[in-house]
Amino acid sequence: MSDKKWQPGKKDAVFAAVVIAVIVLLVLGSSERTTKPTPDDAVHRTAISHETCMQCHGADGVRPQPLGHASSTQCFQCHTQPKGWLGVAK
Ligand code: HEC
Ligand code: HEC
Repeated sequence: MSDKKWQPGKKDAVFAAVVIAVIVLLVLGSSERTTKPTPDDAVHRTAISHETCMQCHGADGVRPQPLGHASSTQCFQCHTQPKGWLGVAK
């Protein structure tokens, strides 16, 4: 039996740093996923086509999508659909 006490070495420190980095990334990553819902107002309940959305949210609209925004036409995949939406539920 060896009497040598365990002492944290360089490898242990690297391992601990990696574990901490992963935890920090997971925590930050999860808090960033807060895509805004589609507002539940008359305008948004009655806008039932992608073309209508883009009249206001296209580059020349009153509220353009931010630069680098996803080009998908399936808005409600990310921005939740208004409760009383008049389009066909998907
Ligand atoms: C007549 C113009 C108009 C149309 C059409 C329209 N929007 Fe909007 N939208 C706005 C305005 C103005 C705002 C910001 C103010 C607000 O909250 O009402 C907004 C806000 C939003 C937001 C919240 C993000 C933010 O900027 O606060 C989302 C998401 C959104 N719209 C998605 C859609 C989708 C999806 C459609 C089509 C189904 C759509 N909009 C159609 C004018 C419009
Ligand atoms: C792949 C996911 C995804 C899809 C699909 C998507 N969006 Fe977005 N959108 C985002 C994210 C992420 C943001 C920026 C952060 C946020 O909304 O909180 C954003 C931001 C926006 C904003 C600006 C919000 C603000 O704060 O000013 C508008 C307006 C918007 N989206 C409209 C639309 C419309 C209209 C569609 C459909 C044509 C659409 N989005 C489809 C993910 C998506």
